[in-house]
Parts: sequence; structure tokens; C-alpha cells
Amino acid sequence: MAFIDWSAEYDVGVNLFNKQHQGLVALVNKLHEAMLEGKSRSVMSSILDDLIKYTAEHFSSEEEYFHKHHYPLDAEHTQQHQALTDQVIKFKQDYESGQTTIGVPLLDFLRKWLVEHIQGADMKYKSFFQEKGVS
Ligand SMILES: [Fe+2]
Ligand SMILES: [Fe+2]
Repeated sequence: MAFIDWSAEYDVGVNLFNKQHQGLVALVNKLHEAMLEGKSRSVMSSILDDLIKYTAEHFSSEEEYFHKHHYPLDAEHTQQHQALTDQVIKFKQDYESGQTTIGVPLLDFLRKWLVEHIQGADMKYKSFFQEKGVS
């Protein structure tokens, strides 16, 4: 069993976003596995870099769709993306500067960070995009 198991409860109705969310879940799982295997700092850092990069890519994809389809909650959703980006960058900085180690509490933070956004803000656009015929 993975640290985060993909579930139908995470289905936001847009294929591209589901795929990207699955990619993000896979990266958090990879980080968890690396932690369990006691991987080196450089391995952990590179997974964190991938997570930051992939998060940025995913957030831009969602924001692009919001603009294109005039999603009414665009501004507050985008603001949440910014806050999440800041959190994950801070997470990495703390790790790099030795102020934190990657353990279960931090992995739990990332799980919450991802899952709560998907089930909260992201889920709110599901019916909107469905009505627009975007899938
Ligand atoms: Fe989002
Ligand atoms: Fe998302």
C-alpha cells in the first residue's frame, strides 16, 4: 500500500488534471519511499525539486483553464495555489538548510497539502467544467 492511494474521491472530472494529480501523488509517494529507504540528501532534494516543478506546471494548467473558461472562483483558487507553492518551497528550504528532516510529520503535511486542495478547491470546479463540456 502506498503512502497515498489514488481514489475515486479525487476525481475532479478533467482528464489532464486527474493525470497531473496522479503525478503529484506519485512524487509524494516516491519521497516517502526514499525516506523509508534512507536515501541520501541529494536524492531527497531532487525529488523535492521535481515536486516543486511539477506543482508549478499543474497550477499553471488549471489557471489557464480558469482564464479560458472564465471560472468565477479563479482569483481565490489562484491565491490558494500561490500559498501552496510558498509552503512547498519553504519546506524545501528548511530541508536544505538542515532545519528539518524528512520524516513522517513532514510527509503527512505534504499529503494534507495535496489531498485537501484536491478535495477542497479543485473539487469545486468539477461541475463548472462539466457544464462547459471540458473533460
Ligand atoms: Fe488547484
Ligand atoms: Fe489541482
